[in-house]
Amino acid sequence: MITEVVDFRSKDYYQAVAVRDKVLRQPLNLQFDPVQLATEVSDLHIVTKIGRQVVGTMIMSASNGKAKMRQVAVLSEIQSVGVGKNMVNFFEQLSKSLELDAVVLHARETAVSFYENLGYTKEGNVFEEVGIPHWKMTKPL
Ligand SMILES: CC(C)(COP(=O)(O)OP(=O)(O)OC[C@H]1O[C@@H](n2cnc3c(N)ncnc32)[C@H](O)[C@@H]1OP(=O)(O)O)[C@@H](O)C(=O)NCCC(=O)NCCS
Repeated sequence: MITEVVDFRSKDYYQAVAVRDKVLRQPLNLQFDPVQLATEVSDLHIVTKIGRQVVGTMIMSASNGKAKMRQVAVLSEIQSVGVGKNMVNFFEQLSKSLELDAVVLHARETAVSFYENLGYTKEGNVFEEVGIPHWKMTKPL
């Protein structure tokens, strides 16, 4: 298993988009907007691969000294074996190396405990995004 940053529009990037589609979009009957995907050129794309297969992915958007973690997804058949935790650790190390001082994210309510176990704290009140409840969560680095 390897976790690394891959190039926008690389083969691994498109595999990661497919993972995001399967894990995050299809269950909500949502589809990717090509215009929105084009804006990801300025993000960092992180993947975990087993062999040549992307099994997990997340995106980093850095702004105002903080790292925003987005689009966190692990293939359902590989969940609960440590891929997500390993990617979050990788993300935090990368953020520190870029001298960012905190991680911020919008967590689906169903994933809040996952992030709390990794030291993240809820902020404010629950809100709706893509039609489901979310919480803002943060972790200082
Ligand atoms: C949430 C998700 C990214 C976690 O990744 P994962 O690879 O399954 O998680 P890990 O195996 O690294 O789990 C780490 C720990 O968190 C726990 N955990 C995993 N998913 C959890 C969840 N949804 N809620 C609570 N705890 C969770 C695991 O049991 C494990 O606990 P342990 O350290 O005591 O053994 C993944 O399950 C996923 O893609 N879910 C669907 C999409 C989603 O919700 N994405 C996040 C959107 S904000």
